[in-house]
Amino acid sequence: MTTTSRRTALRLGTAFTALLGLGGTAAAQEPPLLPVSPVTALRPDILMTGAINRDGVDLSGDWTYSKDLYQTGKTDILGWAAAPRAQRFRDVNVEAEEGKNKYTFFEYDMDRGPHMTLPGAWNAAEPELRYYDGLIWFQRFFESGPLNGQRAFLRFEAVNYLTEVYVNGQKVGSHEGGFTPFTFEVTKVLREGKNQITLGVDSTHGEHTVPPKVTDWDIYGGVTRPIRLIRTPATYIDDFYIRYTEAGRILATVQLNGPDAAGKPVVLTIAALKLKATATTDISGQAQFDLKAPKALKLWTPDAPTLYEAGLTAGEDTLTDRMGFRTIAVKGMQVLLNGQPVFLRGICLHEEEFGSNPARRIMTETARALLTEVKTGLNGNFVRLSHYPHSEVTTRLCDEMGLLVWSEIPVYWAVGFGDAKTFDVARRMMTENVLRDRNRASIIIWSVGNETPSTPARNHFMGTLADDARAMDPSRLISAALLVHKKKVDGVLEATIDDPLVAKLDIMSANTYTAWYGNDRLEDVPPQRWKAPVSKPLIFSEFGADALAGYHPDDRRKYSEEFQADFYRATLANADTVPFLAGLSPWILKDFQTPRREHPVYQKGWNRKGLLSETGVRKQAFAVLSDYYRAKAGK
Ligand code: GCU
Repeated sequence: MTTTSRRTALRLGTAFTALLGLGGTAAAQEPPLLPVSPVTALRPDILMTGAINRDGVDLSGDWTYSKDLYQTGKTDILGWAAAPRAQRFRDVNVEAEEGKNKYTFFEYDMDRGPHMTLPGAWNAAEPELRYYDGLIWFQRFFESGPLNGQRAFLRFEAVNYLTEVYVNGQKVGSHEGGFTPFTFEVTKVLREGKNQITLGVDSTHGEHTVPPKVTDWDIYGGVTRPIRLIRTPATYIDDFYIRYTEAGRILATVQLNGPDAAGKPVVLTIAALKLKATATTDISGQAQFDLKAPKALKLWTPDAPTLYEAGLTAGEDTLTDRMGFRTIAVKGMQVLLNGQPVFLRGICLHEEEFGSNPARRIMTETARALLTEVKTGLNGNFVRLSHYPHSEVTTRLCDEMGLLVWSEIPVYWAVGFGDAKTFDVARRMMTENVLRDRNRASIIIWSVGNETPSTPARNHFMGTLADDARAMDPSRLISAALLVHKKKVDGVLEATIDDPLVAKLDIMSANTYTAWYGNDRLEDVPPQRWKAPVSKPLIFSEFGADALAGYHPDDRRKYSEEFQADFYRATLANADTVPFLAGLSPWILKDFQTPRREHPVYQKGWNRKGLLSETGVRKQAFAVLSDYYRAKAGK
């Protein structure tokens, strides 16, 4: 007897793609595979790696805004150019202009508009914006002194989703993607004194976006992470990539940007290790270091997350960063950290702070509150930051607290795998994510996506993302959260991982919801067999069951804490039977907001698979996992 669920349909790809109208029978209409441009072509002009450690003017705080659901600030009716009276980015004092002439009128005024505190998603800011999904314009003013030969940049840590940036009425750039940083140079448009910054932020997702429109998390539109004005010398350190190798070497690549980038000495220091070295940049402004690691070097581990202050100096520019040094590899079915087998005691997280009205506003303390529940509450050593790049505040805190990290881009469910624009967006997102965080010791896995149907177009799309990540960072592992095919064989469930994408991955990862979704029962879970055509490590990248905190019906039914705890016991018992299992990241640490969960009693717009409620109340299953991980850690 075969048991199939929606998820099995997902794995069957073609049926699913047909279901979504992504073209008729795949075989007949499978589009030719998309051409692959060199990954270097996707690198942003300005990277400003480690910008978080640069001095700058923080533009957080009070902004005004103007809703623009019908995009009048961009285009007028019939696709005509936007009328000046609707162009929110203009460098104009609307009240003064209207005052000058009784016939002059505008249909916006950013200066007298409503206020919003940024960063923070607009969905949490105003009840009327709770489910607003579209374009909103934001504006504020800031002072700037003379530049005296310096350069000035605006650094955005994340804006969801499509952003246009104007300074003093002039467009300085646009960016697509809600979770990775972007930086625009504003040296030429900045004026001494009062400057105006205007952002057009469109949260709309659709056929060509990454993620697509339908996900299982909330809209969270807007400016979700800080914006800063950063000044640098004319030539500055735009990128650096420092890593430790199994051969006991410290390698570093440093890229300068500016008129004096070529032939310039760059000094790398790690004072605590008495390490100091100089390398000269080549014609392209790049310097390479290949140094023997000092004997005193302590390798980074979750139990001893040793970090070193590394300094880089090139001309007038100096940059520091706190770095850990470690190696991560796969050997057969094991994951090796610094050459030693490690079991990943993990949990999944969404980027959502505790509270009943979260704004995806992640500061150090809100991130620490979540990660502490993982580290000390669950005895965990691993977090799957799902399904998109989380804040750099979080990844740096994982370095500091000693948590291994799975980092993912939102290639999630029904992405336009045959579409060149979507492909380009996804590849740029992967590039921005890897280049932002490849100096983080905590990050061990780049994930190219989650629960996507296996079709030739998808395999090519995600296979290319895996190649891109490996090209930019050969020091880490690649994975993806896969769907598995399940059927009963001799009365026992058998889960097979036969996704062709596995060939591109170092670690197989499977999302498994046996006994939550579908008709299987809890007793079917412990004996479930796992099969894979290749010998690679496996992670259960998701498993979970909804439970409403405080709901304790006698019959331990679904949505009860008891069912969730039983579900965990059953799945962990099954985990113990899988010889090639190298880790777990159950779904999920905390209940989170999503428009897909509308049961009026148990869900009310929340996915309740958290081990914690949205306000941090521990459910029974929390202790089940915590005890299991304590034993796994030998504590
Ligand atoms: C999926 C998916 C998650 C989702 C979860 C669920 O596996 O990856 O994003 O929230 O299942 O159904 O709760």
